Amino acid sequence: MSEKNIVETSAAEIAVHWQEEDYFAPSPAFIHQANLVDETLADRFSLDNFPDYYTEFAELLTWYKYWDEVLDTSDAPCWKWFRGGKLNASYNCIDRHLAKNKNKTAIHFVPELETERVDHITYQELYVRVNEFAALLRNSAGLKRGDRVTIHMPMSVELPITMLACARLGVIHSVVFGGFSASACADRIIDSNSRVLITMDAYYRGGKLLDHKTVDNEACGLAEKEGQKVDKLLVWQRYPGKMSSNAEIVEGRDVIVNDELKKYYGARIEPEQMLAEEPLFLMYTSGTTGKPKGAQHGTGGYLAYVTAMSKYIQDIHPEDVYWCMADIGWITGHSFIVYGPLALCASTVIYEGIPTYPDAGRCWRIAQDLGVSIFHTAPTAIRALRKVGPDEPAKYNYNFKHMTTVGEPIEPEVWKWYHKVVGKGKAVIVDTYWQTETGGFLCATVPGMQLMKPGSAGPGVPGIHPIIYDENGTVIPPGAGKAGNICIQNPWPGCFQTIWGNRERFVDTYFKMYNKNPNSKDWRDWPYLTGDAAMEAADGYIRVLGRIDDVINVSGHRLGTKEIESAALTVPEVAEAAVVPVIHEVKGTEPELYVSLRPGFEPSAELRQKVADAIVTQIGKIARCKNVYIVPDMPKTRSGKIMRRVLGAISNKGDVGNVMTLANPEIVDQIKGMVD
Ligand code: PRX
Repeated sequence: MSEKNIVETSAAEIAVHWQEEDYFAPSPAFIHQANLVDETLADRFSLDNFPDYYTEFAELLTWYKYWDEVLDTSDAPCWKWFRGGKLNASYNCIDRHLAKNKNKTAIHFVPELETERVDHITYQELYVRVNEFAALLRNSAGLKRGDRVTIHMPMSVELPITMLACARLGVIHSVVFGGFSASACADRIIDSNSRVLITMDAYYRGGKLLDHKTVDNEACGLAEKEGQKVDKLLVWQRYPGKMSSNAEIVEGRDVIVNDELKKYYGARIEPEQMLAEEPLFLMYTSGTTGKPKGAQHGTGGYLAYVTAMSKYIQDIHPEDVYWCMADIGWITGHSFIVYGPLALCASTVIYEGIPTYPDAGRCWRIAQDLGVSIFHTAPTAIRALRKVGPDEPAKYNYNFKHMTTVGEPIEPEVWKWYHKVVGKGKAVIVDTYWQTETGGFLCATVPGMQLMKPGSAGPGVPGIHPIIYDENGTVIPPGAGKAGNICIQNPWPGCFQTIWGNRERFVDTYFKMYNKNPNSKDWRDWPYLTGDAAMEAADGYIRVLGRIDDVINVSGHRLGTKEIESAALTVPEVAEAAVVPVIHEVKGTEPELYVSLRPGFEPSAELRQKVADAIVTQIGKIARCKNVYIVPDMPKTRSGKIMRRVLGAISNKGDVGNVMTLANPEIVDQIKGMVD
């Protein structure tokens, strides 16, 4: 530590310009209370001790039966963690806390309307509500262990209740982000063969009450057209009588949860004793093809991993009020709003709406009113908050000791504002690098032990051994100043088990590239390919540079270029579509779309609008494109491949490079003329 350029976080003034090498140290007060400070950490979690070190994580949970084997590699690379062990996730997040903490707040729910009551749900209340809803799922919807259920709900306290009720029964939940369209929801219903969909009537976002059930009426219709009938649509009502869709009840299919629940008041459901390797949930994410893939997460490994990450990296103590601003519809919300914090008996905050509405002080007001001590958000939200209210945090009396960022690289400049203004110069910042597939963190600093370095995620978290390979499989050593493909050498319990229904795609996408022997049962032969390019500095800190595949990161959310292009191609006039990421001040990047038309069609403003609308209808507003350009032709290689790189350079006003090898170099200037 000594020869590095360390900036004490307790120092009042922080250097205005710092180099990448600047480090920040946690305050002595933070170190004093940290959950993990151990000089022997590197030895304890060395590869020599793999996989046994992960039993420490599993021991944070309560098991009905301990495992027979820590890691079963017999079906490589579909690893089975804690094989033979039995547990229940709902029991671990609720029941086991009741003896000592039944009156403690499990969930604080902050509605968008400031005139609505903030709800403080105790562990006892959570227990009661999860049991009653589990009884409804079992008896009124006929669900049983191993069935899949799609949940398309906005941020509300009923969302974790629904998830935990599923977990109690061993029903595999597939939560779809509330902002996704009917079509995106239908795709997920079909792929997971869900015959039950759970929704909510309406929610507030940015000052508007949005009719949500209508979207799911449509989703059911779309799924049915493709042969996946939704037998039951369970509707939680927050605003009975307010939405017209509440009246559009399909007899025999729709069940109003609020009414039906009355049958189950007082019901108690014994948690299913799940095998550790049985699936807990599916989380769909974007990849290189048009259809999202269902990342299947197991019960024991996943829960052990997120609980350990919540304890050691999020540094959650039972007395903390912990607020992760993500949406539960993404993996961050699953792991770090619901499962991790509740397994640790913390108080977790759920809020409805957006960070900047009704004003730029909302987040800090919530933090002050609830006494939030740990705060977790994404660079896109930090950029937005900084833009609309750079001086707002100072007006509120809150006190963060720990802050997280996740989802995309954070610019040192933005990190600085987060640290100095939001963290008031006192909070530690942990930049967590991970993915939907990985369940929990890959790289981050252990906050009480390791220095922070703005712009770098940090080294592998305890137990994770990253390695960077070049295209040929040669290791790029730390400090080489060269980027490569970041892989993880060892399996870990939080990693997803497979892609739902598509083992081959799982193996090909994540393990094939650097595997030397496809028949090997030795985990050393199966490095996990993250799909990101990264550089490792001499200190072992990883700087993530971005995706190497066809994925765009918009506001920290993953969108597949093929998904957007397929949506554009649903417009009959469109012949070809190519989407590129454009740098955006708040979102990081946003998609911009180029389309060419089939013969006989002419460009028009209406057609452009039609294509733009198709993207929103097929995927959701999150995929809305900055611009849609109708071009006479796409820049193509001689073999006919669309050169997205050239379009990307045009969109970002960058250098298109040498285009003379293209089949149609003249098109480049024409397109440039349209974009400028
Ligand atoms: O490219 C990396 C980026 O987000 C991708 C994963 O996206 P998703 O599965 O939606 O999960 C987001 C929340 C975990 C990664 O492949 N990414 C994630 N975290 C970071 C990041 N890039 C840089 N720094 C991060 N901290």
